[in-house]
Amino acid sequence: MEIVHGYFSPNGETKKIAQLFYNELGGKFIDLTLPQSRVDYRKLKADLYILSLPVYLQNIPKPMKSFLIHVKAPQVFINLTYGGFSYGNVLRKIKKQLLVSQIVGYTITPVKHSFIDQQIDIQYTLYDSVIKKLKTQKYHEIKIPYRFHNVLFSMFEKSLMKSNFKLIVDKNLCDHCNLCIKECPSGSITQSIKILDSCISCNHCVQVCPRHAITSKKSKFLTSYLKRKQKTSVVVR
Ligand SMILES: Cc1cc2nc3c(=O)[nH]c(=O)nc-3n(C[C@H](O)[C@H](O)[C@H](O)COP(=O)(O)O)c2cc1C
Ligand code: SF4
Ligand code: SF4
Repeated sequence: MEIVHGYFSPNGETKKIAQLFYNELGGKFIDLTLPQSRVDYRKLKADLYILSLPVYLQNIPKPMKSFLIHVKAPQVFINLTYGGFSYGNVLRKIKKQLLVSQIVGYTITPVKHSFIDQQIDIQYTLYDSVIKKLKTQKYHEIKIPYRFHNVLFSMFEKSLMKSNFKLIVDKNLCDHCNLCIKECPSGSITQSIKILDSCISCNHCVQVCPRHAITSKKSKFLTSYLKRKQKTSVVVR
């Protein structure tokens, strides 16, 4: 049986979970974070696709939304990560994008939020039961329950992010190492370190720049939103 593990993980937390499943189940391990890889791996076929991705604004991160329609696998298992606030109806949205695939299980894990410094310890043993299920191949399509979600998040996704999160580039600090350009998951940084409108606000360039030439400015609303208590429990199905 051909298993493909595809993950989108700008800041590495989702990758940790994808890696765990890969270590246990074997197969092909593919990084879908960069734009070129999402083109290269479009036609990859699998019997079981283990898809690992984060929640962005109670939604699928934009680059993955368009990738999902290319997933060629009859059965898909989802590892969803989120910052411990809310994941809305993302699982249903993923199912809709996948067109023909059956969802055979999922995990939902709160991880370190890309906007918050605090690390969250993941209890990896919680995945044992689903990994066992996948190993024995005793799985079938499951129903994804409807969950309440904030429709404003989907309606104003772009403007919400733009008005609450801004990137500032200090060109005097930049030494043109190009790291941010190479690692931007949406290819949104130009050679002159201009941030394009296609930026998905993943915050990776801020974290990766060795010269601290890129910083982010959060609105008061986002700053206080991020102070709310984060959930810590993992959902496994
Ligand atoms: C633009 C953006 C939007 C996010 N929206 C949400 C959200 O709606 N709910 C939530 O709990 N976490 C949210 N998060 C947190 C991410 O889900 C979390 O940081 C992510 O799982 C980290 O994945 P990675 O380290 O693999 O990139 C958001 C993060 C970013 C960057
Ligand atoms: S990572 Fe920092 S120093 Fe390197 S090109 Fe980008 S902004 Fe400049
Ligand atoms: S410009 Fe920075 S924040 Fe925007 S998508 Fe690229 S790496 Fe992420």
